[in-house]
Amino acid sequence: MSKKIYLYGNWKMNNTYSETEKFFAEFPAVYEPLKNDSNLEVGIFAPFTSLWPLSQGAKKCGIVFGAQNVYYEPKGAFTGEISIPMLKEYDVTHIILGHSERRHIFGESDELIAKKVKAVLDAGMTPVFCYGETLEERESGSTFTVMERQLKSAIKDLLPEEISKIIYAYEPVWAIGTGKTATPDQAEEVCGWSRKLIGNEKVVILYGGSVKGSNAKELLNMKDIDGALVGGASLKPASFLEIYTAFKN
Ligand code: 13P
Repeated sequence: MSKKIYLYGNWKMNNTYSETEKFFAEFPAVYEPLKNDSNLEVGIFAPFTSLWPLSQGAKKCGIVFGAQNVYYEPKGAFTGEISIPMLKEYDVTHIILGHSERRHIFGESDELIAKKVKAVLDAGMTPVFCYGETLEERESGSTFTVMERQLKSAIKDLLPEEISKIIYAYEPVWAIGTGKTATPDQAEEVCGWSRKLIGNEKVVILYGGSVKGSNAKELLNMKDIDGALVGGASLKPASFLEIYTAFKN
């Protein structure tokens, strides 16, 4: 039996409402040959303002969809924030948390991210929890110390059954949007190490960082990599789904 692959697209701050409609005008035809493949789970994570057309398009195609962030309080005086109940009304089931752009550009701390992870689990939704080291951290030999801090902070107060519900995404910051991919061995080393630290060999762990059709096969064939979290290449149906086709062929 071949392994199940999670192909998740993080659109970041791209694709407006009308561009999302355009994406879903094209997507079904490109997805058609793959849609009955039970070893593939496709997901797309859009900006809040594109969630409505995303939800409509994704439901028609039977793919997973979600948001890229959320605040942990259910409501109140938190100007500019979006709550979990707000996302639930759009039938959102998955939420990316702790992305390196949230950590490094917007200053989100391990503590804040841990609160979000807990709130999303409490709501019965799936956190897609991102972690990874910067280039400076890798070069100074602190990759595993940094990731241990990030991972432990997110899961330390959770029950084993909650820990197993999280989808983990290892995204080395130096490989994001740079065209520089971690080598399959580098990515595999971290994903294998993560399973041991998390204490559950069966958790889903994705790799993210410049994944595209041309490098997908080697990465997705690694034993401890269950799929990809894709930025740039997920913005167009063809370049996105090509990642899975490249793995299969
Ligand atoms: P790129 O695929 O554009 O490098 O982005 C990766 C990423 O950050 C996905 O969350």
